[in-house]
Amino acid sequence: MSYDIPNPFQWDATFCVGNEHLNEQHKRLFVLINNLDADRTNGAVLKELLDFVVLHFKSEEDLFAEKHFAEADSHKATHDNFVQTAVGLKSVGDGEIAFIKQWLVNHIKVSDMKYKGVI
Ligand code: FEO
Repeated sequence: MSYDIPNPFQWDATFCVGNEHLNEQHKRLFVLINNLDADRTNGAVLKELLDFVVLHFKSEEDLFAEKHFAEADSHKATHDNFVQTAVGLKSVGDGEIAFIKQWLVNHIKVSDMKYKGVI
């Protein structure tokens, strides 16, 4: 199932994963995606988003290891798939922005929620 993309596109309590540091990172991801939406041809803006995505995924994966999270491998695989797709983007248009927004919303609400209360 696909969750609704909030409009305006911003973090709200329905995205709370129970870890303040990760919530703050998720909030920043919303901001960086909005920045890209507003400045689609700026490679530096895309790079800033991708760099932060990688940092955020590593933060989660480090906690998975530390807390022995059972679904670490499958969760990491979804991270890796997204990074592979995102780094391959040749241009950023409506379709790409919609994809990135939908991916983040679904990923937090489906996958990240599984670690709520665990990490
Ligand atoms: Fe918050 Fe699994 O990314």
